[in-house]
Amino acid sequence: MTPCPDHPLTTYRPGLFAGRNAVVAGGTSGINLGIAKAIAACGAKVAVIGRNGEKAEHAASALREIGPEALPLIADVRDFAAIDAAMAQAAKRFGPLDFVVAGAAGNFIAAADSLSSNGFRTVTDIDLLGAFHTFKTARPWLREEGSSLIAISSGQAFQPMWGQVHASAAKAGIESLVRTLALEWGPAGIRVNSLSPGPIAATEGVKRLVPQSRVDAIARRLPIRRFGSAEEVGNAAVFLLSPAASFVTGMTLFCDGGMMLTPYDGQPGADLVPETVR
Ligand code: HXC
Repeated sequence: MTPCPDHPLTTYRPGLFAGRNAVVAGGTSGINLGIAKAIAACGAKVAVIGRNGEKAEHAASALREIGPEALPLIADVRDFAAIDAAMAQAAKRFGPLDFVVAGAAGNFIAAADSLSSNGFRTVTDIDLLGAFHTFKTARPWLREEGSSLIAISSGQAFQPMWGQVHASAAKAGIESLVRTLALEWGPAGIRVNSLSPGPIAATEGVKRLVPQSRVDAIARRLPIRRFGSAEEVGNAAVFLLSPAASFVTGMTLFCDGGMMLTPYDGQPGADLVPETVR
């Protein structure tokens, strides 16, 4: 597969987010850490929330190399009290929150026939309920005018995919959550959008969903002919958060190399579906 081109952490002007404060739930690794880094590179203080303290510390030290201040926070987004406390901690340390990213996600491939009720609930609780908890607990701390929220969605919200009944339903719910909150919170000056990454190289999501033997074939199906990088998703997030998107709310930005133009199934490429799921 063609490698991702080298990309700076941000292509925006340094200091774009000076004096701004951000929280990235799930920002301790992968795509969400890429987003946290892009925000930090634009000059904002960034708190990252994750379940694992060691990963959170590690992410925060990387962010301190890039931006003005970073805060590692431990919470499971499924636990309302825990995320509520973490959000309060970020706001008390930084001041009013400008940017919140609901990115915590859980996923595995399992056919509906072999997925238990608890398996379905676990993924929808992390992705959908977790996004609601993240935004709901951030709400009292938002600066309001100019505040911008992003939920991480995915192509499965729009196109069914084998073995993804839990994640597809959760992400479709996120799409609706985003539009409803955009409607309700718009009058307070708060924008809410979703960002839908495609396959992003070296992430947990790709590790879980794309067998190594199929990486090249799947990349060849994308119009851009390669997987994306966390830096590229970070730059897309900065656009949505920035004043450049000040009239954009309740929308989905696909940062997916054109993946949404290529149906997952019923087309050439259906043979790429893992046999284990069929
Ligand atoms: C079938 C499975 C399973 C599997 C877990 N379960 N893995 N069922 N196939 N491979 C079932 C379990 O049997 C159990 O049901 C239920 O799910 C809960 O599992 P636990 O391990 O107890 O849950 P928990 O410890 O909370 O872990 C959550 C997790 C785990 C999602 C299962 O993988 C995790 O922590 N993931 C976080 C990181 C992650 O997934 N990142 C990738 C995000 S990728 P029973 O009935 O046995 O009790 C991503 C991008 C793609 O989101 C976007 C597409 C939408």
